[in-house]
Amino acid sequence: MTYSKNIIDNIFGGIRPASRALDKAATTIQGWYDSGTIPQKHWAGIISAAKVFNHSLSSEDFFPQQTTKLGSFGYPFNKIHCLSIGDFNRPDIETLLSLGEHYLDLNIQKNPNNRVLKGKTLINLFFENSTRTEKSFELAAKRLGADTISMQIASSSIKKGETLMDTAATLNAMNPDILVVRHSASGAPALLAQKVSCSVINAGDGMHEHPTQALLDALTIKSAFKKISGLRIAICGDILHSRVARSNVKLLNMLGAEVRLIGPKTLLPPEAKTWGVSVFNNMKEGLEDCDIVIMLRLQLERMSDALIPSKREYFHFYGLDKEKIAYTKKKTFVMHPGPMNRGVEISSEIADDEQISLIKKQVETGVAMRMGILHALSESQDNNK
Ligand code: NCD
Repeated sequence: MTYSKNIIDNIFGGIRPASRALDKAATTIQGWYDSGTIPQKHWAGIISAAKVFNHSLSSEDFFPQQTTKLGSFGYPFNKIHCLSIGDFNRPDIETLLSLGEHYLDLNIQKNPNNRVLKGKTLINLFFENSTRTEKSFELAAKRLGADTISMQIASSSIKKGETLMDTAATLNAMNPDILVVRHSASGAPALLAQKVSCSVINAGDGMHEHPTQALLDALTIKSAFKKISGLRIAICGDILHSRVARSNVKLLNMLGAEVRLIGPKTLLPPEAKTWGVSVFNNMKEGLEDCDIVIMLRLQLERMSDALIPSKREYFHFYGLDKEKIAYTKKKTFVMHPGPMNRGVEISSEIADDEQISLIKKQVETGVAMRMGILHALSESQDNNK
């Protein structure tokens, strides 16, 4: 039983009596009842009303597992999977970012008493190589007290459709609570989500989406600027092959930023014009007045044709260096999801300049943001039981 049901039923005697005792609409009480959480601003009122019923409540009773409850972030989050940014509405995103912000505090992140995922199992299932994303999830899960295992599966040796289904059946039999999946085929994590009975997180699927990267990027920007709305943000480079760009465009648009895409015509998908962004083929024009520049790697492994003349020429026109960053005409921060190709899309001078580069910060923020995502999905699972 969730703590909100416990309070409403066992202290006040149900939704209608609670509505009368607390002088709140029955629909509001019903919302707390269904979501399992009560926003923090109502706790004091509930504690004093409970006294009338001879019950002594304290704020501890709103944290039944001695953990931070989502209710304290003001919105009942009830999503089970994290497959695409499009699956979330604005309040979902705000809740996730608030939780990520909460875990950015290292003291909270490293608190050994945080057992939000205690007794739960997370399996990392990576059909494509990854260093930072996989380790970031592993660390995030461990800091929340979960058991984690990681499976690396070389995608070249498998017949995708078949193996994915076989893998799904095998993993389901192990009863995991959360599966983190990276796959070279767009839609693979969503397909898997239909076959298993646990939460699935998309850690990058083909050229489709990478929602947790977009969330960590948004949190990094929010931490640097204290806002996202109204910022001018350029995403530059190999947009065509980038799932990071697709998720970022959706999220940054939802949060009110002005998004620009910059790259050579061969690396910009023709449909990009319909994404609610402005598209540029020239760095000088595209970078003007930008607050943030997100650089992307040339994904040579996904290029079947020669889409760039040479790496040297690419750097000349699109590689970010001191000269090109001056086009922004203001103080700008640079980001990159990694792995970086130094001297191809970004110069070391820029990547390593702590005054400009948020690249290391993105890695740190990534762990906190993933803790927030895991926390939210896990609590939502518990509330849906
Ligand atoms: C990105 C990815 O895998 O999509 N990297 C990451 O998650 N850190 C970008 C990339 O591979 O270039």
